[in-house]
Amino acid sequence: MGVGAFKIRGNKKLSGILEVEGSKNGSLPIFVATLIEKGTYILRNIPNLMDIRTLIKLLESLGLEVEQLDKHSYKIVNNGIKNIEASYELVKKMRASFLVMGPILAHCGEAKVSLPGGCAIGARPVDLHLKGFEALGTEITIEHGYVYGKVKDGKLKGDKIILDFPSVGATENIIMAAVKAEGVTIIENVAREPEIDDLCHFLNKMGAKIEGIGEGKLTITGVDKLYPCEYEIIPDRIVAGTFIIAAVMFEGVKVKGVRTEHLESFLMKLQEMGVTYHIDENGLFEVTSKLEDLKGVKVKTMPHPGFPTDLQSPIMTLMCLAKGSSEITETIFENRFMHVPELNRMGAEITTEKNIAVIKGIDKFSSAQVMSSDLRAGAALVLAALKSEGESTVNRIYHIDRGYEDLEIKLRNIGADIERVKEEI
Ligand code: EPZ
Repeated sequence: MGVGAFKIRGNKKLSGILEVEGSKNGSLPIFVATLIEKGTYILRNIPNLMDIRTLIKLLESLGLEVEQLDKHSYKIVNNGIKNIEASYELVKKMRASFLVMGPILAHCGEAKVSLPGGCAIGARPVDLHLKGFEALGTEITIEHGYVYGKVKDGKLKGDKIILDFPSVGATENIIMAAVKAEGVTIIENVAREPEIDDLCHFLNKMGAKIEGIGEGKLTITGVDKLYPCEYEIIPDRIVAGTFIIAAVMFEGVKVKGVRTEHLESFLMKLQEMGVTYHIDENGLFEVTSKLEDLKGVKVKTMPHPGFPTDLQSPIMTLMCLAKGSSEITETIFENRFMHVPELNRMGAEITTEKNIAVIKGIDKFSSAQVMSSDLRAGAALVLAALKSEGESTVNRIYHIDRGYEDLEIKLRNIGADIERVKEEI
């Protein structure tokens, strides 16, 4: 059977602009939020990705009509949810599908959604989502791999919820359930990722009353009706971070579409490594330091505004090329070092113990055949392959296709020798 792989002949001179697409993790909850209220929506700056196509299939299975207007814009018509069940077939393809639960409960008062199951980077339970729905008056039962939720008395009711952990998905799901609940919902210890702020801004544009955006405690006053609107999604901060690392590794590469306010902890770490940069009046990000002058640092992944787990693997590739040793402590997902043995096959010297990776600086990568385990791991391997002498193959790039739009085209446009080939397995 053949699946996709990238063949990369590395160490080419790269020069030009890498443009950041719209945020995947921003688009998914906003797409899902159109389930809450009937009407017609226009969403812009949606990345052209597999995960978006998977979500559209799910929304269509629930009764929405979705029309692609151009590469990055969609019209969504909600004439009412016709099916309250999100099937295992669709949810297993993408965990974020579980986000439909809050909106379906808000719209229909009952929902049946497949449990997503584990994934390569960790167990990723949904207990915090369910506790939130229960607090808002939903009776939850789990049977045959599905979560069934039924709103008692037909109407969700606001309450106070303190999340045990600032989970991104749980925060989004509970917000979407609460916007039309009766009374006031207070959610404390919420996630503060920029994608959550974007979801709140979208909902407020529709007439929701969400206060405290970005502050860790949200106060949501339920409203009877929302008004569909047109909305443009923020640029993808993780793609931006990945491209910035490429720009640090390759003199002559610039990045367009960086929102530095979304990347503060990441940029501070780069500065600590010795990276200097400037952004011109058009928002073009340019690195002014030299790769050979960088030194190792310690990074600990944390909920936003801490260092994002999604940039842990790409920065590890950069750390391999810095002087001295670096350290990464992964605190968000329990199994997110699967790229380490693959980077080591490319000449890296990384050891791990539990959730800590120690990265010893090396002079150069050597080309190899490697395999991506998740999308960010895949990006880390592509970066390493671009910097290796000789030909590398990065297998299982369907992971990369889930989260990076036209990656090989963008890289080819700045001089990379990269092609998509069949992977023989
Ligand atoms: C979101 O996942 C992102 N996905 C992830 O990006 C990202 O890595 C993650 O947030 C952390 O920033 C989307 O936005 C679609 P969490 P999510 O709930 O919502 C535990 C990518 O590559 N937890 O904040 O699933 C959980 O097990 C993806 O684009 C519970 O214990 O992340 C994990 O250890 C990968 N119970 C931690 O919290 C729950 O009910 C953080 O998960 C929920 C979560």
